[in-house]
Amino acid sequence: MINKFSIKPPIVQSAIAGIADKVFCQKMLNFGAGMVILGGFPADKLNYEASLKLENRGRTEFLPPTNVKDFSEWSKNNLILSKLINNQMIAVNLRIVSIDRLSKMWLNTLENKIDVLELNLHCRQNEVLSIGGGENLLKNMSILSKLLFEISEIIQGVKIGVKIRGSSVREIEPLIEVLETHPISYIHIDLMVKGENRANLEQLGAVSEATRIPVIANNSVRDIEDIKKMFKIGACAVSLARPLINKPEFIATLIKQLEV
Ligand SMILES: Cc1cc2nc3c(=O)[nH]c(=O)nc-3n(C[C@H](O)[C@H](O)[C@H](O)COP(=O)(O)O)c2cc1C
Repeated sequence: MINKFSIKPPIVQSAIAGIADKVFCQKMLNFGAGMVILGGFPADKLNYEASLKLENRGRTEFLPPTNVKDFSEWSKNNLILSKLINNQMIAVNLRIVSIDRLSKMWLNTLENKIDVLELNLHCRQNEVLSIGGGENLLKNMSILSKLLFEISEIIQGVKIGVKIRGSSVREIEPLIEVLETHPISYIHIDLMVKGENRANLEQLGAVSEATRIPVIANNSVRDIEDIKKMFKIGACAVSLARPLINKPEFIATLIKQLEV
C-alpha cells in the first residue's frame, strides 16, 4: 500500500516545535521550500499534559499552542498557509499516543488545510516517553500499527508520514514491515550520530534500500554537497531545522544552488 509521493523542490523545513508556527512556515513557503512542517504539537490529552510539564521546566517551545476550548478558532487561524507554487506541501508534526476527543478534533480539522500529517515517533523528552509517546511508540509494533490504522481511518484526504530518529531504531526491518502495511507516504529519518555533527549516511543507505517508501533525510544538512550526497544514497528529499532558526533565508540559497 504505497502512495506516489514526491517533493519539489526536494528541500523540506523540518519540525521545530513552537518555533515552526504559521509565521515561520509561511516564510519557508515564500522562500520556496518544497514542504514545510508545522509544529510538532501535542494532539491528544496525554501529550497535552506532557507538554505542560515540559513547559513547566522551561522548555517553552513545547507549550501547547491551544486548549480544547479554543481549538476550532485556533486551527482556522494557524493551520492555513499560502502556497507560492501549487505543488508545495504543508505538513503538521503531531505527537499522538491515542485517539481521544482532542486527537479526533486535530485529525478532523486537517482536511482542506494540511497536505500531510507527520506522526512524531522521534521525540525523546522524558515527559513524552513516560506516556509511551515519541520514540517509545517504536517499542511496540502492534501498538504503532493500531495507531496508524486508526489515524488513517479518520484522515482519508490527508497523507501520512512518520518522523523517526534512526539511532533509536534497533532493527529497521520490523518497522518497515509495519509501515508498508499502512498508507505511509514517507519516512522522515533524523540521521543523527551521537556526539558528532554529521548524518549517518550508512543508515540512510540501509533504510532506502530496505523500503519502497520514499525517505526524507535529516540532520546536519549544512551545504549543497551534503544534499547531493544524500540524494545519491537514496533520499527523495532532505530536511533542515536548526540552520533555519536564525537564518530562514538559507533554505532559498540551497534551493537556488540545487537548481543550478
Ligand atoms: C528546538 C527544536 C525543536 C524541535 N522540535 C521537533 C518536533 O517538534 N518534532 C520533530 O519531529 N522534530 C523536532 N526537532 C528535530 C528537528 O526537526 C531535526 O530533526 C533535528 O534538529 C536535526 O536536524 P538539523 O540538523 O537540520 O537541525 C526539533 C529540533 C529543535 C532544535
